[in-house]
Amino acid sequence: MNDLSTLTPLLAIETSCDDTACAILDSQGAILAQSIWSQDSHAALGGVVPEIAARAHLELLPPLVDLTLERAQLTLEDIRYFAATTGPGLIGGLIVGSSYAKGLAMAQKKPFIGINHIESHILTPRLPAALSAQNCDDLPFPYLALLMSGGHCQCLLAEGIGAYRRLGGTIDDAAGEAFDKVAKMLGLGWPGGPALEAFAQEGNPHAYTLPRPLRGRPNCDFSFSGLKTAVARLIEPYGHQAIPRQDAADIAASFQQAVADIMEDRLENALKLVPQVSSVVVAGGVAANKLVRSTLAGCAERHGKIFLAPPLSLCTDNAVMVGWAALERLKLGERPCDIDLPPRPRWPLSERQAFRVSENIVPEVTA
Ligand code: KG4
Ligand code: ZN
Repeated sequence: MNDLSTLTPLLAIETSCDDTACAILDSQGAILAQSIWSQDSHAALGGVVPEIAARAHLELLPPLVDLTLERAQLTLEDIRYFAATTGPGLIGGLIVGSSYAKGLAMAQKKPFIGINHIESHILTPRLPAALSAQNCDDLPFPYLALLMSGGHCQCLLAEGIGAYRRLGGTIDDAAGEAFDKVAKMLGLGWPGGPALEAFAQEGNPHAYTLPRPLRGRPNCDFSFSGLKTAVARLIEPYGHQAIPRQDAADIAASFQQAVADIMEDRLENALKLVPQVSSVVVAGGVAANKLVRSTLAGCAERHGKIFLAPPLSLCTDNAVMVGWAALERLKLGERPCDIDLPPRPRWPLSERQAFRVSENIVPEVTA
């Protein structure tokens, strides 16, 4: 492994959606400190409002970076590399986070590396803290990754760092988006996933027969819009009246069961396509869902695969995963100079940026 001691501590920033996050990692990937601020101003509006999120990042990020440095008992001068998510995500937040990290890097005459948000989710299960939480020493490539978040739902074969083969993805909503929309229909507030999971505990998962879109098809694509529409039809007869609590809980539990079944069916297909993998990992906010997690774990184990899921706090957006993805790349010996890498709202993994190796890693700043 490449010695990273001269390239760390590394400070990472994540602002691609509504979480403002900063983390500092050492050369082994140990978390020296981290801070995260989940913006709650969107709850009253029932979803993330991009402009509000961007303004909040702008306000929260500088004190959050200071707090993280303080927690690590470090100063900006101690940081040797800066990283930030540069896509995909909400463009306002990406501009704020990546510009701030680039500004810090330039002021300190240190390099900056731009990180793909999806890649950071996929690599998180390899983080030492995630591995030790699962009593695991290593997660070698190739492995199968199911990414299930608010904006993304994909099934990928991770063959190496930067080598990802997409086996399938959603043709309409992302899994987390479906959770959020159904939770909104049931008046459960926002973000919907955790609220719906808690409420579903009161319900019967077999009370309603809901569709499992694309079930039985021999691919790894996902579709949730038919399921969402089926839930809307169940709710329709109540009109403006409140849905009786038990009925609402039964709908929530039946919906959650349907999502878990869909995920399991897709995983079965994926394992037929890439039987060579020894491990299955899940990532993204929906991987925090206990039913989804246990269903997928059961499926992986039936196929003789190791199942790994990062601790809940590393499943949802955070900056540790950004720092870890940066370290994974630096370990390969690449020394990117991404100061002029623009933030991208859409950034497919297949369009991984070419690395530029440069002696003069920080451009001259002229007055
Ligand atoms: O990965 P993430 O934090 O952000 C994105 O990149 O989108 O995922 C957030 C998504 C939201 O849609 C949220 O409702 C969902 O993950 N989520 C959950 C749970 N926790 C978060 N969905 C189901 N059950 C949960 N426990
Ligand atoms: Zn995410």
